[in-house]
Formats: sequence, C-alpha cells, structure tokens
Amino acid sequence: MIGFAPPQASSFAPRIDMLFNAMLVLCSIVALGVFVVMIWFCIKYRRGSPAERGQRESSNLTVELSWTLIPFLMFCGLFGWSLYLWDGLRTPPHDASTVYVVGKQWMWKIQHPGGQREIDQLHLPLGVPTRLVMTSQDVIHSFYVPAFRIKQDLLPGRYTQMWFTPTETGTFDLMCAEFCGTDHAAMRGEVVVMRPDDYARWMQSHAQVGLAERGEMLFRRFGCSGCHGSGATVHAPDLDGIYGTTVALTDGSVATVDDRYLHDSIMLPKSQVVAGYAPIMPSYENRIGEEDVLALLAYIKSTQQPGPHPTEPSHERH
Ligand code: CUA
Repeated sequence: MIGFAPPQASSFAPRIDMLFNAMLVLCSIVALGVFVVMIWFCIKYRRGSPAERGQRESSNLTVELSWTLIPFLMFCGLFGWSLYLWDGLRTPPHDASTVYVVGKQWMWKIQHPGGQREIDQLHLPLGVPTRLVMTSQDVIHSFYVPAFRIKQDLLPGRYTQMWFTPTETGTFDLMCAEFCGTDHAAMRGEVVVMRPDDYARWMQSHAQVGLAERGEMLFRRFGCSGCHGSGATVHAPDLDGIYGTTVALTDGSVATVDDRYLHDSIMLPKSQVVAGYAPIMPSYENRIGEEDVLALLAYIKSTQQPGPHPTEPSHERH
C-alpha cells in the first residue's frame, strides 16, 4: 500500500496501485471475517463451556448462497478490472516511440531508432508513450521497473512488447525478474527519465548512425546483399519492400512478413522457405547477435513503400 510501494513514475502506476489496494482491502475483509468468526466460535463452543448446543440447523440456503455468491461476484469484478488494465498495458498507442531491448547474461542492451545504443541504462523523454520491443540473446530474462509497475519476460527467439508513459523525471531501478544464471542478481540497470529538451540534447550528444543505416551496413557485411540484393545472381527473394506483405511458403502455407518471420528467416531459414526457392540459405544462428538482427529488421522495414501498410506488424503477445 501507499508508503511501502516505490514511487509512481508511469501512467500505469496509479491504476495498478489502485487495483492492488482494492485486492488488499477485499482480501483483508474476507480473511478478517473468517478469522473473527472462527476464533469467536472456538472460544464460545470450547469443551466444557455452558453454550447452548441444541437446535442445530441442518441447512440454510439463504446464508449459503449469500456467502458463496457475494464473494464470487466481488472477485469476478476484480478479475474484470485487472483484465481491463492488462489489455491497456499490452495495447500501445500508434504514436508510441519504439525502443529495442536485448537481454543477455547479464546485461541490458538498448537501441534507439536513431541508432543511440546504451548498456544497463535507458534514457527516455518525460510524457512520451514508449513502446519496448524486447528479445533475449540466451535465456529468459524479465524487464522489471518497479516504479513504472511494468514487468515483461524476454524470450530467446521471440519479440515481446510492452509500453508505458513516464510521468516523473528521475532515475529509476531496472532489474531482471527472472532467474537467469549466476549473475542474475547483478543484472540491474536504470531508467533515466528526462525533460524533453534535456532528452533531445542527450540524443544529439549520443548520435550515431541510425538503426536502419547500421542494418544496411550489416546487410552487406554479413553477405545478405550477395543473394538478396539487386543484381545478385543467386536465386533468392528480393527483400525490398517485403515487410508487411504475405508470402507463400513451400509447404503451402502463407506467412505474413513481420518481425518474427524475418527473425526466423535469418536464424532458422530452413523452417520457412518461400515457394519457388531452393533451401540454400545458411542459418545465421550463433553468427549474428540479436541486436544486429534488430538492425537488419529496421533496414528491411525502411525499404517499405510509403503509404497504407497492408498489415500491422504483429508482435508476440502474452
Ligand atoms: Cu536476467 Cu535474471
């Protein structure tokens, strides 16, 4: 409850705390009611007490229904309330700015779309809805910022997302909430929320080559362009503008080209071969880090034609 909880520094914090307090109060009332009656009966009907023991009632439907249905309906209300909050936590607004997070033993690697990269630190502007797209390089980690009341697992080979709006400036603890090996306890960082003008200065001073541009460099360095680039002699799908489209696979199924599809195409190319192509692409598993995959994805996305997108990129949800 208030006083014990960390500061409320995101748009979700007051709403989560209200739900938590409601649950605490409701559970306290139920527990108190049960224990008061139990202790009272223990004393009143103890062995040898002169209490009246005749006239036992075998059943009373009104009493039984009310002590069953009233708590049931109250807890259904809590369920609906938390479902409503849960859905809000997982539905980022369309204007949210995206930051990429890769967890690995034992650090947090952050990439901003402008190419700014940080380790164990995440700088954010105050009041701007921020969407985190997260994955893991090795084992399951969990991105936990108590002051924001947010917690989400990072899974190897999957993209999970989460969003929030910081409502306080300051430095807030970031920790890993999933046991992930020897130094799990040391896998900590901080989220630094800055006023928008300070944030703009910070971004400026840490400017690097943008994520999509870095992806384009990697596209050549890893040899992707040798087969997928224009003018390549190897028969491989052209990736220009492919993001958001659908492709037919050799097994007869149809896949939407989203983050997950592209990620798996790089790491496990044999798992989904586009119809009409030979399965000749080598796997890049253990050869490309997850951060570089994110940069490659950003590059492939950047070749998308402007205009209405046929599909929204779908992210793994929980
Ligand atoms: Cu990463 Cu615990």
